[in-house]
Amino acid sequence: MRILKSKTFTDDELIAHARGLSTVTGDIREQLLHWDFGAVMTMKFDPAATNYLFSDEAVPFHWDGAFYREPRYLLFYCLESEGSGGETLFADTEKIWESLSEEDRVRCRSVQLTYRTKKLAHYGGEITVPLLQSHPETKRPILRIAERVETALNPVELTVSGVPGCEEFFQSLVRMLYRPEFMTEHRWEQGDLLVVDNFRYLHGRRSLGSNRRRSFKRIQIF
Ligand SMILES: [Fe+2]
Repeated sequence: MRILKSKTFTDDELIAHARGLSTVTGDIREQLLHWDFGAVMTMKFDPAATNYLFSDEAVPFHWDGAFYREPRYLLFYCLESEGSGGETLFADTEKIWESLSEEDRVRCRSVQLTYRTKKLAHYGGEITVPLLQSHPETKRPILRIAERVETALNPVELTVSGVPGCEEFFQSLVRMLYRPEFMTEHRWEQGDLLVVDNFRYLHGRRSLGSNRRRSFKRIQIF
């Protein structure tokens, strides 16, 4: 995870920086994930939001692109932030894996996760993924522990399957995400530019509280 304190960046400068980080050579559409709105998403509080990402609610841990294509890196650039609230949380799943007992590692190998959500924002559908995966570059074990999203604004349902007691086991892993030895919390300041590995780390955010002016640009990089 890298953080720069910086000047003001334009969208074109952010795109150029993001393309420089890509592990892919060639066309911009192969280097950066494009959605209906293009490669640069603006994330900010919307009082009329139909999806929790744009509300003031906390965002549970997840990885990006699960319902479509998974980017290698995420770039976040903070346009505005005021006081506390809306801190972004990162959980290191390689570290969690390393801390597990052999018995728990065996359980991880059998667990499958099925996620379902309606496409009210830019993503949606149904996917089934193994809990234990390997990092595409380092080949180290990573854990895909996206939490259920229990909200009135576009919930994400989850079914855990594979071994007896797998729901309870999954919940024990969710609790580990928030333990201080595995979690990093970033309190934003205007101008912060942060790049994170979308495979090794999961991310989420605290509720915005009074920090409703918090806004970002986000680019997803292959
Ligand atoms: Fe995200």
